[in-house]
Amino acid sequence: MNLTRSAVLQTALVTFNSYLEQYVSTAMTIQTLETLPSDLDPRGLPNHIAVIMDGNGRWAQGQGLPRIEGHRRGANTLKDLLRCCKDWGIGALTAYAFSTENWRRPHEEVDFLMVLFERLLRKELAEMHREGVRIHFIGDLSGLHTSLRREMERSMEQTQHNDAVEFNVAINYGSRHEITQACRLVAERVERGELTADAITEELLERHLYTFGSSDPDLLIRTSGEQRLSNFLLWQMAYAEMYFTDVFWPQFDRSQFHQALLAFQNRDRRFGAVSEPVTAQALTA
Ligand code: FPP
Repeated sequence: MNLTRSAVLQTALVTFNSYLEQYVSTAMTIQTLETLPSDLDPRGLPNHIAVIMDGNGRWAQGQGLPRIEGHRRGANTLKDLLRCCKDWGIGALTAYAFSTENWRRPHEEVDFLMVLFERLLRKELAEMHREGVRIHFIGDLSGLHTSLRREMERSMEQTQHNDAVEFNVAINYGSRHEITQACRLVAERVERGELTADAITEELLERHLYTFGSSDPDLLIRTSGEQRLSNFLLWQMAYAEMYFTDVFWPQFDRSQFHQALLAFQNRDRRFGAVSEPVTAQALTA
C-alpha cells in the first residue's frame, strides 16, 4: 500500500518536474526572443512576410491527436508569429489560411476551420485592435458564410486606422482566380470605353488585385517540408525569397522564425540586376 503511494507520488513529482522544466524553458525562450535577436540586422529585415502554414494535420497525427487539434495549435502559432513581427519591427504578415482548393477536404474539417476562423475573430479582435494590428482579408469572400463575412468586415472596419503591424489573412483565396478577376475588371473598363488597351500596365492590373495597397512580400516561409507555392500570391511574390523548413507549422516558434530571418539576411537580392558594378572587361572576359 505504502509502496504504491510512494510510486504514485514519485510519478507525480517526475511529471511536475518535467512540466516545470518545459515551462521554464518556454518562458526563457520567449523572454530572450522578445526583442530582436542581436545577430539580426534591423535594417535588413523583410518588410512583409507571407506564410504557408503547412503540416497541422501531420503534426496532430504524430501526437495521436485529431487533425483539427493541429489547426487549433496552428492558430496559436500564427498569433505568436504576428506578435513577434510587431515586436521585431516587421511591417506586414500575410497568412494562407484557406485556399480555393481546400474546399475539397472532408466537410467536417472545412466546417471546423470556418467555425475556428469566426470564433478566433470574435475572441481576438479586441486584443489585436489594442495592439495596433490592421486586419485585412484577401480572397473571394462572397463564397463564405454570412456570419463569418460579417465578423471579417467588422474586424477590417474596426482596425483600418491601426499601424503597428498589417495582418492579411487569405481565405477562399486562389492566385489564378485573383489574377483572372483582375483581368476581367480591366476588360470591362475597356469595354465601357474608360480605358484603351495601351493604358493597361502592371500598376493598373495591380490596382485590381485583392492586395492593392499592400507591399509585395519579401519572404515566403512554408513549413512541413513541402516546397511549392500552391496558388498563393503568384503575382505578388515574383521576387520574394523562399524559405522552406521541415518543421510542422504548430512547432514553428520564435526560434524557428529567427532561423528563417537569418537565412533571409544571407540572401543576395538582386531583382534581376547584378550586385556590383560590372566593368566592360568583366562582361566579355
Ligand atoms: C495546412 O495544414 C493548414 C490549413 C489548411 C489551415 C491553416 C489554418 C490555421 C492555422 C488557422 C488560422 C486561423 C486564422 C484566424 C487565420 P494541413 O491541414 O494541410 O496539414 P497536413 O499537410 O499535415 O495535412
